[in-house]
Amino acid sequence: MLNDSFYYGDSALCCDGVPLSAIADAVGTPLYVYSAARVRHNVERLRRAFAPLGASIHYSLKANASLALVRLLRDAGLGMDAVSAGEIARALHAGVDPARIVFAGVGKTAAEIAFALDAGIGWFNVESRDELRLLDTLAGERGLRPQVALRLNPGIRAQTHEHIATGHLGAKFGLTAAEVSALLDERGAYPHLRVAGIHVHIGSQLGDVAETVAAVRAAQAVAAPYVDVRTLNIGGGFPVRYTEDDQVPAPDDFARALTPLLEGWRVLIEPGRALVADAGVLLVSVLYVKEQGGRRFIITDGSMTDLLRPALYGAVHEIVPLDHPAAERTPAVVTGPVCESADVLHRAALLPPLGAGDRLAVLTAGAYGMAMASNYNLRTRPPEVLVEGAGWRVIRRRETWDDLLRLEQDESAGRS
Ligand code: LLP
Repeated sequence: MLNDSFYYGDSALCCDGVPLSAIADAVGTPLYVYSAARVRHNVERLRRAFAPLGASIHYSLKANASLALVRLLRDAGLGMDAVSAGEIARALHAGVDPARIVFAGVGKTAAEIAFALDAGIGWFNVESRDELRLLDTLAGERGLRPQVALRLNPGIRAQTHEHIATGHLGAKFGLTAAEVSALLDERGAYPHLRVAGIHVHIGSQLGDVAETVAAVRAAQAVAAPYVDVRTLNIGGGFPVRYTEDDQVPAPDDFARALTPLLEGWRVLIEPGRALVADAGVLLVSVLYVKEQGGRRFIITDGSMTDLLRPALYGAVHEIVPLDHPAAERTPAVVTGPVCESADVLHRAALLPPLGAGDRLAVLTAGAYGMAMASNYNLRTRPPEVLVEGAGWRVIRRRETWDDLLRLEQDESAGRS
């Protein structure tokens, strides 16, 4: 989907006044381009929506932990939601106050917990009794008493792709209501923890506000008997529109439905996608065009290694040409060079006639794009550019073959 930051000016696709072809000329493709203005716009939109709840916003780093974006979001006043010590380290490197980091994740290692404790992380979202015990022990050894939210699995199957639904009982996430109650009853057994909150996150790209409302009610019901448990982390999951046809609830819709429920509660949210998805595009170049089995294949230099979502979730990202948007469009399969048929960027993109060297933008690719990129087929991961003010800059350079070799060791190298 095009938006206020990505639009056609004089029939050339621009990002905040900069023609994307100029950036692609300078940096090459494939390439991610992000709009700082759009990220800031998204922050304000969420902030306004959730202001009536007094919610504290923690950016979910997993969506895109590019250092320049993390700094931008820190400067915009957000806390962070981390799911690994790597993400915590990234946030600290970006100058985020550790007290404003929440540490979530179903499988934190002892080393990660120790690292987070030593860093002074604000909240631990805990997902099992074993984890609670381990956290208590490691906190005790350090003379610390961190805040803990227990992650509730409310038994709600969210309307979203099955890979990213997390609130149903068949999923690995969280603790059942009975388990959360039992742990709250026995809080005294964890003297080095302040178990003071409930965390609930039922999935990503959520299609129905009512399910989130039900999850929040379930969390409140579990917390009700414990008057000091009045912090509720309601997770992320706020959806974005990937195509013109997508009908998804807006942040306002979530906030309006939740505000009457949450009076007197301290509220945290953990949005990722809603902050960065529509602030990013992936630019690719056409290599070859061919007809096969009655279909037009556009083979590009971008692939599932750059943007995995279409291959992994059947996700649809609109694809548009950088030039000449007015030409007549017909369906095409847009693919990459990787050696498997899952390597698609779009299964039926409506595109004008194209030839080698033409460039395309894969839209709404700022979240879970670069974050899930890989080196499969020994492809180098793409560079990233941030458009800010009237200018733009490379915030991550293209990987090189030497980068790919750097971690490898071959003891026999050079020996005969
Ligand atoms: N909080 C928790 C506990 C989460 O598990 C997630 C996402 C978030 C917050 C942020 O969710 P968001 O606001 O971005 O929807 N790779 C998938 C999405 C995986 C989301 C995993 N958890 C995709 O490309 O759609």
